[in-house]
Amino acid sequence: MTNLREKYGEWGVVLGATEGVGEAFCKKLAEGGMNLVMVGRREELLKEKGEKFHEEYGVDYKVVRADLSCPDEACEAVFSATEGLDMGFMSYVACLHHFGKFQHTSLEDHEKMVNVNVISFLRMFHHFMTIFAEQDRGAVINVSSMTGISSSPWNAEYGAGKAYILKLTEAVACECEKTGVDVEVCTLGTTLTPTAIKNFPKGPVGEKVVKLALTPDEVADEAFEKLGKEFSIITGERNKKSVHDWKANHTEDEYIRYMGSFYADQD
Ligand SMILES: NC(=O)c1ccc[n+]([C@@H]2O[C@H](COP(=O)([O-])OP(=O)(O)OC[C@H]3O[C@@H](n4cnc5c(N)ncnc54)[C@H](OP(=O)(O)O)[C@@H]3O)[C@@H](O)[C@H]2O)c1
Repeated sequence: MTNLREKYGEWGVVLGATEGVGEAFCKKLAEGGMNLVMVGRREELLKEKGEKFHEEYGVDYKVVRADLSCPDEACEAVFSATEGLDMGFMSYVACLHHFGKFQHTSLEDHEKMVNVNVISFLRMFHHFMTIFAEQDRGAVINVSSMTGISSSPWNAEYGAGKAYILKLTEAVACECEKTGVDVEVCTLGTTLTPTAIKNFPKGPVGEKVVKLALTPDEVADEAFEKLGKEFSIITGERNKKSVHDWKANHTEDEYIRYMGSFYADQD
């Protein structure tokens, strides 16, 4: 395992650290010797997990209770908790979904999704990139989704937010290619996180999806292995092949319809 602390700095922040992919990223940071700033809404659970990383890897941790659907308060909490620390890593993992047709979701719920998937992401990314660029040292792994490549009917706002994360992060990764800052966006297919397990489509479609799913640890292994080597990755060989095959052999409309087929009955 690369010594992430030596390469990037003493502390890493994971926005959405409580479980699933965020927790797996924290484990990677701890294995690489970095102290953790763990951000999420469930403070007690975050403390339990932080304590576990401390006992297992000897790293320090800080828990920041913040709701990323309230960008002003969340940014204030995260920026003040990390001020003065030798920051060397950030990852934006948290997301918000709402299934159903676009107009059947209230504007308020759309704006909440934009807050989590776009506004808080943008502010956190900009804040930590400014620090990393100034010190010419640091790393970012942002998390997107295959819905951000194709779009996501019946989960449209989420897919649009994931496309924003994907395209913004890819461009920034290229901008800092020849610097000491490594930036990557990691596009996930179905991954066995507690939230995804609750939301899997029902019936045979759901069963097929689960069979192809990766674990959060598999995602984290690939994401950290490719950090500093690739701007944009799709985790898992089957997911890479699926995107490649759909793009090569189908029209855009066919691909969009296919992605819509997973959640069309959830309206
Ligand atoms: N799982 C999949 O199948 C899949 C597929 C494609 C892409 N992805 C992407 O992978 C990432 C992780 O997926 P996931 O299913 O684990 O997502 P998730 O349910 O959002 O969970 C990630 C973490 O974010 C925290 N979180 C969620 N909303 C938050 C909020 N408003 N404020 C602060 N923290 C918040 C949760 O902890 P608290 O509850 O303690 O706040 C949790 O630890 C997301 O970016 C998602 O788009 C996942």
